[in-house]
Amino acid sequence: MAQPVKVGIISIGEMGVGIAKLLAAHGYVVLTNITGRSDYTHRRAATAPITLLDSDTELVAQADYILSIVPPRDAIVTAKRITSVKHGERATPLCYIDLNAISPGRAREIAQEFETNAPQVIFVDGGIVGGPPKPLESSGDNSGEPGAGWKRPAIPLAGPPLPNVHLAQTLNSKYLGPNIGAASGLKCCFASLLKGLIALSIQSFSTAEALGVYDELQGFLKHFQPALQETTTRMVTEIPPKAGRWIDEMLEIGRCFGEEGGWDNVTGTEGANIYQRVAELYRTVAEDTVLGQERQEHRVRGNTASDIALAVEESLNPNYKK
Ligand SMILES: NC(=O)c1ccc[n+]([C@@H]2O[C@H](COP(=O)([O-])OP(=O)(O)OC[C@H]3O[C@@H](n4cnc5c(N)ncnc54)[C@H](OP(=O)(O)O)[C@@H]3O)[C@@H](O)[C@H]2O)c1
Repeated sequence: MAQPVKVGIISIGEMGVGIAKLLAAHGYVVLTNITGRSDYTHRRAATAPITLLDSDTELVAQADYILSIVPPRDAIVTAKRITSVKHGERATPLCYIDLNAISPGRAREIAQEFETNAPQVIFVDGGIVGGPPKPLESSGDNSGEPGAGWKRPAIPLAGPPLPNVHLAQTLNSKYLGPNIGAASGLKCCFASLLKGLIALSIQSFSTAEALGVYDELQGFLKHFQPALQETTTRMVTEIPPKAGRWIDEMLEIGRCFGEEGGWDNVTGTEGANIYQRVAELYRTVAEDTVLGQERQEHRVRGNTASDIALAVEESLNPNYKK
């Protein structure tokens, strides 16, 4: 009987645990090494059938695939964890898939890291578009196809094609071709739109709150742009626990637009790199407002768009009167 395919996931965050559950439900053995990570991560890992290993050496020895799903800031350091351990003899090469929200330039740096220090590993560039996988309550899909009965994000991949077609299908992947960076770049272009719009919404809503015209702004939006009002008021409430992680994601998007889209060539004192500014906005929310204390598992502030506006205004406006 064929051995089950073993997939290592670093780390078990909100996305990592969703992918772990999806893979386990499809017969994969999921492994991780979360030694030293927070209680939140350990508690999350306990909600899924995941085998905990004590070292990266064991992870590399046992896994057929390793998926890197960490905050974008940690993508390189995570790759180096894998290139720096001793790789023993094995029947089939280890395949490492970077699924972080990084720029094509960063993806090429990681590919170079593997080429230089662990050339026996197959490196695949990837991205994740959409929220963590979840079982559907009633899908009506009894086809038995990989992913049937699950709501899944889309996963663009680039570089060498995944050796295991069933895994590629289970992950809902879309192969873009051999050019490392294409998948990360596509993710940047997609994520920039909504995350840029949310940044604009936070500034607009909190400033309207400061001016005392928040309700009037929402009234105009509802009347003239109902779809925009529905999207922005819903999406801003998801920001508090994510703002810190999004700082580096915005810098990576800026790098993508600068290097790949040519926006670095624009002359002027500050060029046209809007996403460096968007990163600063998310840094402000994470570090200078009460919203930065929010955790996915324990939400107190910012559960409505009006409280987001109020919390930002309270924290940033020195003249704010309670
Ligand atoms: N969540 C989504 O809806 C979503 C959607 C699309 C793409 N993604 C992508 O998925 C990736 C992870 O997002 P997430 O939502 O799962 O993040 P998350 O919930 O914040 O979890 C991040 C995980 O990484 C761990 N971690 C932090 N620093 C690390 C390091 N230096 N080395 C190893 N592990 C580290 C954290 O451990 P601690 O608990 O110890 O901090 C935690 O387990 C990001 O690249 C993101 O862009 C997420």
